[in-house]
Amino acid sequence: MTTNTRREFLKQAAIGAAALAACPPATVLGANDRVRVGMIGVGGRGEELLKEILQVPNVQLVAIADVYSRRRDAAKQMAPGIQTFDDHRRLLDMKDLDGVIVASPLHIHAKHFMDTIAAGKDLYCEKTMTWSIPEVEECLATAKKSDRVVQVGLQHESSGSLADTRKWIKDGLAGKITQVESWMSRNTPHGKGQWVRQVPSDCTAQNVDWKAFLNGRPDRGFDPYKFINWRLFWEFSGGNVTENMVHQIAWIQTALDLPEPTAACMSGGIFSEKDGREVPDTIVVTLEYPQDVVVTWQSTFNNKHYGLGERLLGSDGTIEHIMGVTDMVTGRSGESLHYYPEKVNRPEGVALTGESKNQNHMANWIDCIRSRQTPNANVEIGYRSAIAAHMANTAYRQKQRVTLEMAKAAVSQI
Ligand SMILES: NC(=O)c1ccc[n+]([C@@H]2O[C@H](COP(=O)([O-])OP(=O)(O)OC[C@H]3O[C@@H](n4cnc5c(N)ncnc54)[C@H](O)[C@@H]3O)[C@@H](O)[C@H]2O)c1
Repeated sequence: MTTNTRREFLKQAAIGAAALAACPPATVLGANDRVRVGMIGVGGRGEELLKEILQVPNVQLVAIADVYSRRRDAAKQMAPGIQTFDDHRRLLDMKDLDGVIVASPLHIHAKHFMDTIAAGKDLYCEKTMTWSIPEVEECLATAKKSDRVVQVGLQHESSGSLADTRKWIKDGLAGKITQVESWMSRNTPHGKGQWVRQVPSDCTAQNVDWKAFLNGRPDRGFDPYKFINWRLFWEFSGGNVTENMVHQIAWIQTALDLPEPTAACMSGGIFSEKDGREVPDTIVVTLEYPQDVVVTWQSTFNNKHYGLGERLLGSDGTIEHIMGVTDMVTGRSGESLHYYPEKVNRPEGVALTGESKNQNHMANWIDCIRSRQTPNANVEIGYRSAIAAHMANTAYRQKQRVTLEMAKAAVSQI
């Protein structure tokens, strides 16, 4: 974060905190009351979430806000009857709104997070919770001071695989887990870069509020490529660590009840996608945790054979969660969760297969809006997983192992 961006964020945070002190208590909804929802940022992910929210019974999507006219038009086609705004503050002014879904680009999450809480609405905020460590500290503190229900878009926190893994660990089947291996791999046809989106012809300065998108970043002429492909650039993104590692690290942290890491290393580079992007496509992360656990995560955009997965290595057993691996015989891909005993310590142990079903992550948020309970991906796991991601990126950009204290003290780079 540049000094200016940081100062601007802290100023906004102070305004948000003042507004929070004045914000009205959440309306108490009965079990059968209709929940009225709005959405900020309805791009690729926002459209998926819009479809999801329309499926949840007794919920009404009332309004959306987006800085790009094309997105507003597309949302209105999907949900006729909604109001559309080009400024998220107009949406938050609506008095009869219970909850707000934020699916804007990463570098604007903190602003939309703070503004939503200050407006007295419950919040579903896409992952990663924020773009930087100072922002995530501020958002955590703000959420804790309020009585709003906050769900982070870490949907694997609602997965059956996590429920089964937690149970097996609690039952002692894995013994002492000292090491976790995790990975995520993708590939694209030659000549087509991972994540690269075509710029639509109507993506012009007239149809986009570029200043609102920049959110305090240095002002410059409209850059449609960066507006559409913000994921590729550090000033808006944290690369694949904030896009995908965060999901798996949250899952691992919850499975093992881990706090934030004590130290992180990250190596890799731009090895396969040489298209002008700044964020690495090939990554190896090591995260050290205080409870005698080390976690590795590796990722490539050059080969998808091994899909995505986590292996928890314990003295008494191994837990293996796999998604999207290509089966060598059938060519099919799927999800599986298995437990394998370590015969040296559990000679009578038998292999197990995970059976629990996934919960609907969006419906879980809506249930909690009614019951005022804590959702599956609460603000604490949003915080801890964001800290792990930002520590890894700090280590990569500083080219050294960083401790939690070093990462917190570092001025985020743009
Ligand atoms: N949970 C998941 O599995 C998952 C999957 C994909 C993406 N995501 C997350 O969702 C978020 C959005 O990703 P995406 O791929 O949809 O990006 P996107 O660029 O397709 O969509 C972002 C939308 O936000 C709008 N926007 C930009 N600035 C705005 C502002 N100031 N106010 C209101 N709207 C604004 C853009 O016009 C665009 O429509 C990211 O944080 C991403 O990491 C989560």
